[in-house]
Amino acid sequence: MFKRDKITVVGAGFVGATAAHWLASKELGDVVLVDIVEGVPQGKGLDLAQASPVEGFDSRVIGTNNYEDTRDSDIVIITAGIPRKPGMSRDDLLSTNAKIVKGVTEQIVKYSPNCYIIVVSNPLDAMVYVAKEISGFPKNRVMGMAGVLDSARMSLFISQALNVSVEDINAFVLGGHGDTMVPLPRYSTVGGIPITEIMDKDSIEKIVERTRNGGAEIVNYLKTGSAFFAPSSSAVSMAESILKDKKRILPCAAYLEGEYGFSDCYIGVPAILGGNGVERVVEVKLTEDEKKGLTKSYNSVKELVARVKEMGIV
Ligand code: NAI
Ligand code: 2OP
Repeated sequence: MFKRDKITVVGAGFVGATAAHWLASKELGDVVLVDIVEGVPQGKGLDLAQASPVEGFDSRVIGTNNYEDTRDSDIVIITAGIPRKPGMSRDDLLSTNAKIVKGVTEQIVKYSPNCYIIVVSNPLDAMVYVAKEISGFPKNRVMGMAGVLDSARMSLFISQALNVSVEDINAFVLGGHGDTMVPLPRYSTVGGIPITEIMDKDSIEKIVERTRNGGAEIVNYLKTGSAFFAPSSSAVSMAESILKDKKRILPCAAYLEGEYGFSDCYIGVPAILGGNGVERVVEVKLTEDEKKGLTKSYNSVKELVARVKEMGIV
């Protein structure tokens, strides 16, 4: 007998609820929305389920405060935590979110020992590390979402600058999800043509800077929270590639064991996402400057992980 895939989204806030929306409307499986706040996941889950007759999706959606309902999930997307307010960096969220991600991961593992975990909570690269350490899962089953979002932002800015379809753009961003991320114009293409061939240096530099500040730009508008449409859509695209065994090459926070010269660390790199999770990290040649940028990013992630260790969380 065939059965539907089951996807749990932890955190029924802006990113979590919107992720549930994309998951259900794409009919990727049945969706369980979990939060610690009583009533919120239930209310949002029921509201989303009531859209199903209108939109014509048959995914079952429920909201709960009880991890028992998440039993045997195939994929778990963790969005639980606090978001940024203006003036805060993602790193300011470290100690609060590390404790939340630890607690959530313990519950997930208890009920879904075979699931794949996609972490969204910030500071992203350190939070995925916490999820991996606490779950004890192999590296292919724990990954983080940031690169798809950062690359999507860069793609949009390129499409706007060139007045061309977003569909023909493939932007490439490596590194940690923070101020040290490494957008790579050389590997960013429009219809297969590197943007370095068709855009001047100044225009590219503006796009690189705007991509780096992409999250802060939205926080400054919203004032009480951070981006959620594009982040949730990005996490769902990773889940989709795994559930459908699409084997897309997507930039994501993957655990490195020597790739790019780094070890025992999560950082954004291109990876093949398929039925076995992170199936392979794809290594590309980098110039000295690009390597320097990536090393700076790696060091800043390592520093955050060291702080999480000092706090005794992992
Ligand atoms: P939000 O505040 O709207 O939602 C967070 C939810 O988590 C709240 O409903 C809260 O009650 C819940 N929560 C807190 N502790 C929990 C626990 N122990 N168990 C279950 N649920 C718990 O925040 P939003 O905007 O949804 O962002 C969520 C996280 O995602 C933030 O840390 C944010 O920085 C991060 N984020 C990461 C991105 C990325 O690219 N990796 C992009 C956008 C957001
Ligand atoms: C973003 O990039 C806040 O990490 C979040 O929008």
